[in-house]
Amino acid sequence: MPKNKTIERYLQDFSCIIITGASSGIGRELLSRIEYSGTAASVFNLSRTPPETISKALKFTHLNCDLSQPAHIESVVAELKKLMPSTGRILLVNNSGFGAYGEFPAPGIDHTLRMVDVNTRAPVHLTALLWNDIKTRGGQVVNVASLAGYQPTPLMATYAATKAFLLNWSIALDAEGRAFGVSCVAICPGPVSTNFSKAAGFESSTGLGGQTVQACVEESLQAMMRQRPQIITGWKNRLLGFFSARLPKPFVAKIGLRMIRRLKLDRFVKKS
Ligand SMILES: NC(=O)c1ccc[n+]([C@@H]2O[C@H](COP(=O)([O-])OP(=O)(O)OC[C@H]3O[C@@H](n4cnc5c(N)ncnc54)[C@H](OP(=O)(O)O)[C@@H]3O)[C@@H](O)[C@H]2O)c1
Repeated sequence: MPKNKTIERYLQDFSCIIITGASSGIGRELLSRIEYSGTAASVFNLSRTPPETISKALKFTHLNCDLSQPAHIESVVAELKKLMPSTGRILLVNNSGFGAYGEFPAPGIDHTLRMVDVNTRAPVHLTALLWNDIKTRGGQVVNVASLAGYQPTPLMATYAATKAFLLNWSIALDAEGRAFGVSCVAICPGPVSTNFSKAAGFESSTGLGGQTVQACVEESLQAMMRQRPQIITGWKNRLLGFFSARLPKPFVAKIGLRMIRRLKLDRFVKKS
């Protein structure tokens, strides 16, 4: 793990760190970096399964929560408020999320609606319930969006739209929050090797390659430390995001459809 004193100091500046989806992938790597920083903060993970092998030195609590269920969010935040320290800066990372591939509404209406709930409704709900505490005590809200949020993406239409929502919401919240000393950062990765493709309905890796989870989280932490409202991780992704955000959306969607079809991703889709 890279030794980075500035990132360690940035992480040590919070008394309470709340992260969703630290059981796997990007969230788990971020939790490792938090562990490694030697922070004295109380750290909470909200997801359906607990992360494995957490260092005993970390003040860590896993709170079981299915973020597609608003009632779970309400009760988990009530519990969280009893457990979290009452002073000091708060870092909230809305990371949980998943994708879907195929012609709308594939892979199914239930999957699609749960995805909308976990990717958009849950971050808004969770942030709203904690917003007063964050505003009063100072802190940061981080939203893991996606490069897909920069353009309409056929065959991933709903997933990309949830991430466009998260990206725009996050940037607007950052503008509002600055008056209270609160920053928001939208992290926008391109493909990263995690369990993401499995959760999106693929049987095996799609072979699209992409960033390692370590590289993605390192860039994300740099952006969080610098309070950048948005970051696309990986230079190739930044180039893609730069151009696609400047071209007419219907044109980008047509080209995108052709390019995605050419990748023949259907061969990786789990047969039900
Ligand atoms: N990997 C990529 O290529 C990529 C690219 C761009 C953006 N992203 C975004 O990065 C974020 C993290 O994804 P990842 O790549 O790390 O994938 P991952 O390895 O599949 O991790 C997803 C995390 O989300 C949590 N989650 C899923 N459904 C949940 C629910 N109903 N309630 C609570 N937590 C839930 C999972 O926890 P449990 O299963 O334990 O609940 C898991 O910890 C997502 O928002 C994703 O959209 C990923």
